[in-house]
Amino acid sequence: MKKILTKDNSITFYNPDFKELLHPESGAFKSINQRYLNHIKLKDNMKVLDIGYGIGYISLMILNRVKADITALEYNKECIKNSLILHPKLKTVKILAGDARKNIKKLKINFDLIILDAFSTMKNPELYSVHFFRELKKRMNESSILITYNSSPIIRVGLIEAGFKLQKYKISKYEEGTIASFTTENLTEEDKRLIRAFGIPFYDPNLNSKKEEILSIQNPGKKINLV
Ligand SMILES: C[S@@+](CC[C@H](N)C(=O)[O-])C[C@H]1O[C@@H](n2cnc3c(N)ncnc32)[C@H](O)[C@@H]1O
Repeated sequence: MKKILTKDNSITFYNPDFKELLHPESGAFKSINQRYLNHIKLKDNMKVLDIGYGIGYISLMILNRVKADITALEYNKECIKNSLILHPKLKTVKILAGDARKNIKKLKINFDLIILDAFSTMKNPELYSVHFFRELKKRMNESSILITYNSSPIIRVGLIEAGFKLQKYKISKYEEGTIASFTTENLTEEDKRLIRAFGIPFYDPNLNSKKEEILSIQNPGKKINLV
């Protein structure tokens, strides 16, 4: 993976399989604060699940603030290796290396906070399916939250179908994020109308479908152009 220096002087990497950077060029640390940390309450001893751990920046920035008990899911071994070289503190994170859809089933505890930092919607549909969201819900309780920088109607309708209530929040002038929980909702009637109009959820019944299968279940009969 190619190393890139972002505008806040943090390093990120280009993932050639997804053709995406791990973090925006505007700043990896800046974006994690804007997308996640500015919107959640961190507490000592909280149980956190970091999905799409990458090079571990989110886990690291949480550990710089509180003594959290962090579990992470990531299948890119090069990312995991880089994270452990860059930040010795990340050795306290329990990293399950492999497909998050498989490893989620091995987790027997409930989490206070789940951060879902996958690549974009159409490139990483397996981490945004109704079936994956249901697995996440099983590992949450009444006071847990799941946060993602993603605001696509596809993922929002999937979260609703999995049984979550949704809150939107502002990341920047053009970006909105989504918080899913058992209890709290702040979507307007217009938001719900847009979700109903444009949101066709992803399904992945056995949690092992290929990307093109997930996309063609969503759009039956359509030719899928993969990236
Ligand atoms: C946007 S990057 C996350 C960046 C990361 N949060 C950080 O701060 O460094 C998305 C990550 O999700 C991982 N990923 C995508 N699909 C996955 C899957 N099915 N199982 C495990 N990891 C996955 C990718 O390898 C990538 O590292």
